[in-house]
Amino acid sequence: MTDASRTDTTSSTGDHRTDDFRTAARATAELVSDYLAELPGRPVWQPMDPAERQSLLELELPEHGADLAELLKVIAERVMPAPMGNGNPRFFGWVNSAPQPAGVLATLAASAMNPSSAGGDHADVHLERAVVRWIAELVGFPHPAGAGLLTSGTSMATIVCLAAARGRAARRIGWDVREQGLSGLPPLVGYVTGETHSCVRKAAELLGLGSRHLRTVATDADGHLDLAALRAAIAEDRAAGRLPFLVVASAGTVGTGAVDPFDPIADLCAEEELWLHVDGAYGAFGALDPVIAHLYAGMDRADSLALDPHKWLGVPVDCGCALVRDPEELRSTFSLVPSYLRDEAAGALGWFSEYGTEQTRPFRSLKVWASIAHRGRAGVAADIARCTELARTLGELVAADPELELVAPVETSIVAFRYRPAGIDEKRLDTVNKELPVAVQLRGRVFVTGALHRGREMLRACLLNAATTEADLRLLLEEVRSAGAELTARRGTE
Ligand SMILES: Cc1ncc(COP(=O)(O)O)c(C=O)c1O
Repeated sequence: MTDASRTDTTSSTGDHRTDDFRTAARATAELVSDYLAELPGRPVWQPMDPAERQSLLELELPEHGADLAELLKVIAERVMPAPMGNGNPRFFGWVNSAPQPAGVLATLAASAMNPSSAGGDHADVHLERAVVRWIAELVGFPHPAGAGLLTSGTSMATIVCLAAARGRAARRIGWDVREQGLSGLPPLVGYVTGETHSCVRKAAELLGLGSRHLRTVATDADGHLDLAALRAAIAEDRAAGRLPFLVVASAGTVGTGAVDPFDPIADLCAEEELWLHVDGAYGAFGALDPVIAHLYAGMDRADSLALDPHKWLGVPVDCGCALVRDPEELRSTFSLVPSYLRDEAAGALGWFSEYGTEQTRPFRSLKVWASIAHRGRAGVAADIARCTELARTLGELVAADPELELVAPVETSIVAFRYRPAGIDEKRLDTVNKELPVAVQLRGRVFVTGALHRGREMLRACLLNAATTEADLRLLLEEVRSAGAELTARRGTE
C-alpha cells in the first residue's frame, strides 16, 4: 500500500530522507493543542532572550533540507516559546485577539488545498461569497451579490473602498481616474476626525489624494465626529473650488472605542452627495450586542464598510473585509482581465480579482467559515456581548478607584484610563503613564498598551476575549497601580 503522505526526497546533492507527513501532522496537532492549553498559565508576554533573538535574526540559509520532525523541533523549542501574548485572556493590548480554535484547524486544511481564491469554480471561491454575505448579515449591512471581498485587513479594505470612492467622485465630473490619473483634477477632499485610524491617511496618500486634502474635523468631548464642524468644512471647501467627496466615520475608534453618529452623518452625506465610508475594523461587530446595538443605527447606510474578522471574531490573522453598497463601484475600479485569465464560466460576478488589488489570493474564507460556524450567530453575539460587559465592569472598577481615572466613556469594549494618584503634577503624571504600559508588560502577568489621547498619555485596555474573567480585570488594575507606584517612586528620586 502506498501512503501519499510519505515523501521520499533525494536532493541533487545525494542526501536521502523519508518524511512521514502523517506522523509530523499528528505531532503538530499535539504541539498546537498543548500550546493553546498551556497559554493561560504562562506569562502573557516576556521579552526574548537576547541571544535567542540574535540567533533567529542571524539564521543561516541552509544548504541542505531538514526532516519535518526536525523543523517541528525548531518550531516547538525556538518559536512557540516566544509569542506576542494575544492568545492569553489577560492580554488587553492594541486590537489583537486570541485565535478561534476552529480557525486554527481550518488554516491547516486551507494551506493543504492552497488554491488561489482569485476566481474560478472551486470550493474556496464559493465559500468566500458565502462568508462575505455572513459578515454583512452579522453587522446588518446590505449585501447584493458581489458587494465585497476578504482582504488582508482593514488597511487593505480601506484602500479598496477609498479607491472606489475616488473613482465615483471623479466620474461624476466626467473624469476617468483609471485612464487620466489625478493630474488636472480639482483636489478631492475627504473628512476624518482626530480619532480616525491612520490607515485612512495611508490609503489617501497611496491613492494620490494627498493627506493635506484629508481634513480633520472636530469631535465632541467623547470623540464623536461633530456634525456642525463637518458641515462647515464642506461648505468652506466647496467655496474654495475643492471637491468634497468622502466622509470617514468610525464604528469603534482605536483609541477609546467611540462610535460615530451614523444616521445624521449619512443624512449629510446624502444631501452633499458624498461617499460615506465606515471604519469598523475593530468595532463593527459590536452591533451584535443588543445592549449597544443602538449606537450603530445608520451604519447600514454607508457606501462602504471596512471591518476585520481577525479582530473581534478571532479569525486567525490575516482577514479583513471590504463591503460596499454597490458591487459595480468595485468592479469598475479594479476589473482588468488579461487574456490569459479569461474565464467564460466565471458567471455574472466574474472573479474576486476584479474587485480588489490582489490577483493571487489566499484561501481566507475557510477560517472565517470555521470560526463563525463553530460558534454560530448566537455564540458570536454572546462572545461580543460578554466583552462589552467586561469592558463596562472594568470601566466601573476604574471609576471607583481613587488612583485611576476613566478618560472616556466605555462605549464598546475599549477602556481608556490613566493612573492618577493624588499629589503628582500633570507633567510627571504624563511621563509615568507613558512608561506604564511597558512596565506592566515586563511583569508578565497582564498586557496592556498605551496611546496619546487629546495630548495626554493614557492606557487603553481592549477586551476581545470572552474567556477573560473579572479576576483578570482586577489583576490588570492591581498591576497598573503597582507598576505605577514603582515608577512614581523612581521618578521621585531622579
Ligand atoms: C479602528 C481601526 N481601523 C483600522 C485598523 C487597521 O486594521 P488592520 O490592522 O487590519 O489593517 C485598526 C487596527 O487596529 C483599527 O483598530
